[in-house]
Amino acid sequence: MKKKNLSAIIVCLLSAVCILLTIALPIRIAGFDSKKTLIVYFSRVGNTDFSDDVDAVSSASLRRKDGVLYGNCEILAEKLSNLSGADVFSVTVSENYPESYEETVNRASHEQSDNTRPKLTSHIDNMDSYDNIIVVYPVWWNTMPIPMFSFFEEYDFSGKNIYPVATHKGSFLGDSVNDIKELCSESEVRKGIPISGGSVDFVGIMPFVMVAGWVMLAIGTLLNNRFKSKTAKVLLTDMIPILGIIMNVLCIVRILI
Ligand SMILES: Cc1cc2nc3c(=O)[nH]c(=O)nc-3n(C[C@H](O)[C@H](O)[C@H](O)COP(=O)(O)O)c2cc1C
Repeated sequence: MKKKNLSAIIVCLLSAVCILLTIALPIRIAGFDSKKTLIVYFSRVGNTDFSDDVDAVSSASLRRKDGVLYGNCEILAEKLSNLSGADVFSVTVSENYPESYEETVNRASHEQSDNTRPKLTSHIDNMDSYDNIIVVYPVWWNTMPIPMFSFFEEYDFSGKNIYPVATHKGSFLGDSVNDIKELCSESEVRKGIPISGGSVDFVGIMPFVMVAGWVMLAIGTLLNNRFKSKTAKVLLTDMIPILGIIMNVLCIVRILI
């Protein structure tokens, strides 16, 4: 098999996995009954007292839009809610985390090793009316932030479907799904979906970019050997598929890392 064909096949397979990864949850939740579905999220933003001049560029995982700070999980939860029409609930702690990333990491580490349960300030009155709970959380020290443990212990999730979605910086889901299964042994805890924190803005458009990349690969392959002009051959049968491969590889890297 030609090297170029082999690399195209590998890219196509990886793309298929990534497309499934990015659209599996949206497709699923689009089919849910929005009245019986709740999207729960926890983000560092919303649980931290940031000063007005905090630098969203150098501070890990912060985004600023029109002067307002957003967390990765918050953005993802809003996107999923727009798609499904489901209610959104934000988990918030009574004692906010420090502005410094390092200090937050240290506090999270202590909370985990001491197995603490931070007090939550937000509560859901009508949990009984939801059948599907989509939980969007960042991976902290290889699992959910400890406030999410407080959340799971507060309610009775028996018989509900739980869909874990984690944003991360390299740990993917870590141990989070196993921890949710332990906390909710009477629930149907579905396979988790990991999404790189930096990719949440692109989650909606990535499948389209990847499909466009595939189409370009296919066009290049179909047009192969159909041109006598060397320029047309280079442009149409070499450059287009190479561009298609690059688009796919960039998307794969962006989703995973
Ligand atoms: C306290 C803390 C611990 C973290 N631990 C991990 C980790 O173990 N693995 C990982 O991949 N990312 C880790 N991260 C990165 C976050 O999971 C990632 O930036 C996430 O997208 C942040 O989402 P948010 O902006 O909604 O809080 C950690 C971040 C913080 C603040």
